[in-house]
Amino acid sequence: MIKKDFLWGGAMAANQCEGAYLEDGKGMSPMDILPSVQHGRKEAMYHPEIAMNTNYGYYPSHQSIDFYHRYKEDLALLAEMGFKAFRTSISWARIFPSGDDEIPNEAGLLFYDNLFDECQKYHMEPVVTICHFDTPLSLTKRYGGWSDRRLIDLYLNYCKVLFQRYGKKVKYWITFNEINMITHIPFFGGGMVVKDEEHMDQIVYQAAHHQLVASALATKMAKSINPEIQMGCMLAAGSFYPYSCNPVDVWAAVEKNQEVYLFIDVQVKGKYPSYAKKIWSEKKITLHMEEGDEAILSQYPVDYIAFSYYSSRLTGVSPEIKGNVADGNAITTLRNPHLDITPWGRQIDPLGLRITMNDLYDRYEKPLFVVENGLGVEDIIEEDGSIVDDYRIEYMKKHIDTMIEAMNDGVECLGYLSWGCIDLVSAGTGEMEKRYGFIYVDRDNEGNGTLERKKKKSFYWYKDFIKSMDETK
Ligand code: BG6
Repeated sequence: MIKKDFLWGGAMAANQCEGAYLEDGKGMSPMDILPSVQHGRKEAMYHPEIAMNTNYGYYPSHQSIDFYHRYKEDLALLAEMGFKAFRTSISWARIFPSGDDEIPNEAGLLFYDNLFDECQKYHMEPVVTICHFDTPLSLTKRYGGWSDRRLIDLYLNYCKVLFQRYGKKVKYWITFNEINMITHIPFFGGGMVVKDEEHMDQIVYQAAHHQLVASALATKMAKSINPEIQMGCMLAAGSFYPYSCNPVDVWAAVEKNQEVYLFIDVQVKGKYPSYAKKIWSEKKITLHMEEGDEAILSQYPVDYIAFSYYSSRLTGVSPEIKGNVADGNAITTLRNPHLDITPWGRQIDPLGLRITMNDLYDRYEKPLFVVENGLGVEDIIEEDGSIVDDYRIEYMKKHIDTMIEAMNDGVECLGYLSWGCIDLVSAGTGEMEKRYGFIYVDRDNEGNGTLERKKKKSFYWYKDFIKSMDETK
């Protein structure tokens, strides 16, 4: 059952849309040193120490889609589609260029003031991620990112400025984008450089612990500033299926899902789950907790569970399937023979969204929020200038249908925000031509183009769809 106040809309992130990477006092962010995949992004994102010492010439994030200067035009287009909500993130380095500056950068603060005012003008609820792969680069260089516990206080200092300034304008906050991503791409999730010879699991799970404490304390702080604020965690979701009914495959899926849920268990239930000890022991991790950490985690759980869903994942141990893999949004998955796959290697599984939502809701019994879902593919401009993206419409329709089915199953869900509602720079590949938007942006993988916006066929479809939802209320 779709409620009257269901939040239909879309999502973007500062590091992938704003550009203006050094404008008005902004400091460097992790994405600002990464090239596109054609120029070595994969090596650079897993080995940022190389990226820091390499001049790649062209950096997609530096100008991106120039949302920083075009947000008014862009929000007007989203409003035309009838958006009820718009998710974006705040660039930490726009507010604190070095991450630990004494005073915040007023020009950066003003930008978000204007942006949220613009949202308000269109009655669009802003949904704001505090850190979306965006720990200031200076903190990577001087502290080693989130592996250093001092990041907790620096993050809280940043949060305090945000909640005091925007606490009345923004109700829905997300503390960290896809918190489980830190164990897969530490530079994205935690602004960390982990060298091959280092004990990666020890470093990333400790850093995640710092984020969990920071997230709980940020929740405490937000509520003290405005009790109306709703704080969310955020998961790169997509349930793991077992490859077969062989119990060893089923068990492999149980363990993979536990790894995915571990941090969300803490953020929702207020404590590490019992299986955490097994994971730490198998990975030879000694987690350092300070006195009081457990109490903090238990006292300030989140209000809702935001998640991205691109596909389900698959695991198993049968030798014949080893090596046959697909892209599970940075998390390795086996290729599922029952699913279609995009040219970028992502499998398409609409029913998996219903399964994932039921899994999450059964486990947590807290409202869910779909804050990312979408199809990243190339779009073709026809001779008459139109963009007929029927494949995107089909993808979205099917996913929205299964989301509604999940809600009919009894799952409480706050809203549906499609990812990359305006084409933007891909986080994984740095490409522009892996497009997710309802709105096309004239810019290619090498940064050529006018940045002009163009409505795709899906723009009109989503607009009609939201209107039809309004009419059935
Ligand atoms: C999510 C991220 O993991 O997936 C986004 O939160 C990202 O930042 C999205 O853009 C899609 O992935 P990609 O690699 O296609 O940009």
